[in-house]
Amino acid sequence: MKGFTEIMEISISKSFNGFKVIENISFRVNPGEFVCVVGKSGCGKTTLLRIIAGLEEYEGEIKLDTERIGFVFQDDRLLPWKTALENVLFPIGIEKKIEKGDVELAKKILKLVGLEGFEGYYPKELSGGMRQRVGLARAIIIQPDILLMDEPFASLDELTRQKMQEELIQLWERDRKTVIFVTHSIDEAVFLATRIVVLTPRPSKVAGEVKIDLPRPRDRTSSEFNLYKRKVLNLLRLKSES
Ligand SMILES: Nc1ncnc2c1ncn2[C@@H]1O[C@H](COP(=O)(O)OP(=O)(O)OP(=O)(O)O)[C@@H](O)[C@H]1O
Ligand SMILES: [Mg+2]
Repeated sequence: MKGFTEIMEISISKSFNGFKVIENISFRVNPGEFVCVVGKSGCGKTTLLRIIAGLEEYEGEIKLDTERIGFVFQDDRLLPWKTALENVLFPIGIEKKIEKGDVELAKKILKLVGLEGFEGYYPKELSGGMRQRVGLARAIIIQPDILLMDEPFASLDELTRQKMQEELIQLWERDRKTVIFVTHSIDEAVFLATRIVVLTPRPSKVAGEVKIDLPRPRDRTSSEFNLYKRKVLNLLRLKSES
C-alpha cells in the first residue's frame, strides 16, 4: 500500500458558534479497513468526514499520513453541464492539464463501476444509481489512499442500494483502499464494514465499536448477521435514552 501505511488516529471535538456538536470522537483506522460510522441524524457524521478531509476546522488531533483523500457525497454533486466522463476527469483537471492517458484511465474506471457506454451522458440522462457511480468514479480517479463516503446510497431504492453495496465491496476487495463510510442504515453497515463505530447523539462521542467477523459475501438474512444488527442497535438505543 502506498502512502497510507500507519494507523490513522482521530480524536476531535467541534463546536459551531459556541454550540458543541462533537464532544470527543476518538477512534482508529487501520490501513485497508472498511469502517462504517453510524449515528443519529445531526450527531456530526458529515462534519466528522469534512474534518478528516481537511474542509473544516476542529479541536484535537488527527494522525493521518496521507493527503490523498477521496470524498463521495450524499447528493452526487455532479456538474450538470459536463458529461459522465468530464465529471470523472474534473478533479484531475484542477491539478493539471488533462492528457490522453487521463481520459483512458477515466474510461477504465467508468467501466469498473458499470458505466461503459455512458461516458457521453449528462447527469440528467442518468438514473440516481448511475449518478452515484459517476460520483464514486470521480472520487477514485485521484487514486486516494482513503475514501470517505457520506451516505452515498441513501437516496436509492432498496434493490439498487444492495447492488451498489455489493459492487463497492468487490472494488474494495480488489484495491483494499481504506474506507470510512457514514450511514444511517444498520443493515448497510453490517453488510459492508470490517468494523462499525457507533456514535451517540449530539454532542457526539463514540458509544462503542463492533467488529464484524462475517465471511463475504454476507447473507443479510442469516442469524449471525441479525445478531450483529441487534448489537449495533442496542448501542445506538442505549446512548439515545441516557
Ligand atoms: N456550517 C455549519 N454551521 C453551523 N452549524 C453546523 C454547520 N454544519 C453543521 N452544523 C450543525 O452540526 C450538527 C451536525 O451536523 P452534521 O451535518 O455533521 O450531522 P449528520 O450527523 O451528518 O446528520 P445527518 O445524518 O442528518 O446527515 C447539526 O446540528 C448542524 O446543524
Ligand atoms: Mg450528514
